[in-house]
Amino acid sequence: MKVLLTGANGYIGRRLKQHLLTQEGVELRFFVRNKKSLSKEMVEKHEVVEGDAFDTEALKKALEGIDAAYYLIHSLNNKNYKELDKLAAENFIQTATACGVKRVIYLGGLGVKNSDTSEHLLSRLETGEILSSSHTTQTIWLRAGVIIGSGSASFEIMRNLVEKLPLLITPKWVQTYAQPIAVDDVIKYLIASLSLEYDKNLTVDIGCEKMRYKDMMLEAAKALGLKRWLLPVPFMSITLSSYWLNLFTPVPFRVAKALIEGLKSEVTMQNNNAAEFYPQIKPISYTESVKRAVEQIEQNQVISRWSDADGAIWDKSHANQINDAIFVDRQEVDISAYEKEKLFKVITSIGGKNGWFGYDFLWEIRGVIDKALGGVGLSRGRRDECDLRLGECLDFWRVEDIQKNERLLLFAQMKIPGSAWLEFKIIDNKLVQSAYFYPKGIWGRIYWYSLVPLHYFIFKNMIESILKNAEKDA
Ligand SMILES: NC(=O)c1ccc[n+]([C@@H]2O[C@H](COP(=O)([O-])OP(=O)(O)OC[C@H]3O[C@@H](n4cnc5c(N)ncnc54)[C@H](OP(=O)(O)O)[C@@H]3O)[C@@H](O)[C@H]2O)c1
Repeated sequence: MKVLLTGANGYIGRRLKQHLLTQEGVELRFFVRNKKSLSKEMVEKHEVVEGDAFDTEALKKALEGIDAAYYLIHSLNNKNYKELDKLAAENFIQTATACGVKRVIYLGGLGVKNSDTSEHLLSRLETGEILSSSHTTQTIWLRAGVIIGSGSASFEIMRNLVEKLPLLITPKWVQTYAQPIAVDDVIKYLIASLSLEYDKNLTVDIGCEKMRYKDMMLEAAKALGLKRWLLPVPFMSITLSSYWLNLFTPVPFRVAKALIEGLKSEVTMQNNNAAEFYPQIKPISYTESVKRAVEQIEQNQVISRWSDADGAIWDKSHANQINDAIFVDRQEVDISAYEKEKLFKVITSIGGKNGWFGYDFLWEIRGVIDKALGGVGLSRGRRDECDLRLGECLDFWRVEDIQKNERLLLFAQMKIPGSAWLEFKIIDNKLVQSAYFYPKGIWGRIYWYSLVPLHYFIFKNMIESILKNAEKDA
């Protein structure tokens, strides 16, 4: 069976990819916006079509000869995600129909349309309706509510809130019912949808037990070994709650707002098709799913995170800007006495719990300032203490390039008046560390000059500490 996977770098797509690779009889093709986002092995072993859902030629290449296509495209990180998601779905189903694709498998959100339904959910429902509009291509539309798994946005929000705040002041909508589901179960339904013997459109609501958001938070606290209290108050508006989440959790304001708006309406299963068509899948309980997520975090085995999407399209948007950077802080050291592999391992351990090679309190302060300005701050941390991959985020940076034993390039995603990069390059016997800044207007220049004294200490110390750490590991 020839299967197309879209959204392979997203939260769900990355996990699904791992499972699809082990399925017998499945020939996999990827549709990604940047080929570099896939490992060398993946590109060598599988067909890869590079393109965007707005490029119908690329879609045609991706969908030709395909039996079943997973549709996991979602643009929540964009301001106009509603229009983008609509257009992407229209392009996709039209091309899939023209190419004779038999089945599209889409994962959307649970819920019904009413006056309380959030914009985000309405958009997810619209995508499902568009994808189900073909007369010849069948669509299996799985609908999940809150997905619980290490790195999922909803779980990370709950985890950060309960870990940081003993008393949780919440909006009154935490009384609303939802039906969560473990990410592993979502993957089971997605995989089983490939071989489902049914040829008409099908909507399948999936989830475990029905519970209030408030109980989900208290249960999550319990699983983390914490006793927490909840105080729902009427004055927590959507905007105030979104700022609150932005401040205490890793999610940016826009994502927080979309999720908070969704709390107002019940997101529970509306049909029994999961039990009827997939009787072999028995979803695990909410408590069990939280325990699994916590275990994965503790064992440093987070496969994907909500922030993975969009990471790998950087080079199409501002790759050349770095060459125009006006300000550069460059540090260079001789590394002839060091093994390149060890040095690179130290370099790529930067950030998260490992810290920033000294002056960590200054990085912490910068993180707090960034949060106060509505940025992501340092709370995203690292997915894995040792491993780094292209496109993923690292505190308030994003990995823009990673070439083993040669180069690590980080792009700053903090709120700054301009664009900034931090680069580590191993060239022959030299380690070159460069901080680039492309200022925006006068404020950008003032920003850079005001930080010059701090940069002097931070960056000089950084390269020296990298060498010291490499000596320690030797
Ligand atoms: N995560 C959850 O908690 C959750 C809960 C319920 C339902 N769902 C549903 O599950 C589906 C997948 O969600 P997710 O969380 O995995 O999303 P995600 O992490 O935001 O990933 C979205 C994917 O879409 C791709 N994409 C975005 N715009 C594109 C475009 N124009 N052309 C081609 N690809 C594009 C991105 O590709 P790049 O890698 O190139 O950036 C990324 O891989 C969504 O329909 C969502 O509603 C998710």
